[in-house]
Amino acid sequence: MAQLTFRIRRFQPGRGDTGWQDFSVESSPGMTILDGLHHIREHQDGSLAWRHSCRMGVCGSCGLIVNGEPRLACNTQVESLTGSRISLEPLWNFPVAKDLVPDLSSLFEKHSAVAPYLVRDDSEDDGSDGRELAQSPAELDQFLQFTSCIKCGVCMAACPTLASDPDFLGPMPLTAAYRYNADSRDSGFDARKTKLAGRHGMSHCHYAAECSRACPKGVDPARAIQLLKRDLVLDLLGVRRREPAPPVDGRAPRTRDGLQAPPFTVPSPPENPDE
Ligand code: SF4
Ligand code: FES
Repeated sequence: MAQLTFRIRRFQPGRGDTGWQDFSVESSPGMTILDGLHHIREHQDGSLAWRHSCRMGVCGSCGLIVNGEPRLACNTQVESLTGSRISLEPLWNFPVAKDLVPDLSSLFEKHSAVAPYLVRDDSEDDGSDGRELAQSPAELDQFLQFTSCIKCGVCMAACPTLASDPDFLGPMPLTAAYRYNADSRDSGFDARKTKLAGRHGMSHCHYAAECSRACPKGVDPARAIQLLKRDLVLDLLGVRRREPAPPVDGRAPRTRDGLQAPPFTVPSPPENPDE
């Protein structure tokens, strides 16, 4: 057990930045930053504010800056950090509501602006006939890694472009846009295009790739942004993009304009060579 100092940057509504404050915390095996914050609030200062929920790296609400790096409080163990002094700040590139609580409104507004859902031109189809929007494993692979995003904002805090242009869409919303653009069931490319190609859109990314380095879920936003750029260039050149796959009933693809969704087949188990 070691004695640690949690050096926390405090912000008060109406007063702004009120400076750093030190708290002494005894470490224990497996202790996380989140555990340390709970200890401080329970035993030293009940007014300390931060945000959390799941405690297991799923809800995305506990992002903060630990020793100058954007991280999640709940999956950062104090033993993984060097030194006995741990500095904590609210996520960069967001206004602060109080202490370690960032105001993430801009994150969710930008996310909402890129239509982060399947856009279909058959919206009158309510699916009541039981058809599925089937996908092959290869089609799923086009976007699967980007579905791990938990909207924590850690990548937004790491982004140097966002630091210089608060209106830049940023890595999380751009990743969400690519996740749906790359989905074979989606036809929202044109709907998203104007927003993505705008002055504060993907072309403003300088490919520092700090977002990918910081992401606690292994998502690669920098890659998503480069793929978005590629798709926009292909679109500007008039190269026809992939069209969304039509829904199928599990037996045969329903065709629309000649488009086909490859039927999904379960492979047979390999024969036992010992028999
Ligand atoms: S891409 Fe990663 S860092 Fe960015 S919001 Fe999603 S999970 Fe968080
Ligand atoms: S508390 Fe949910 S991700 Fe940390």
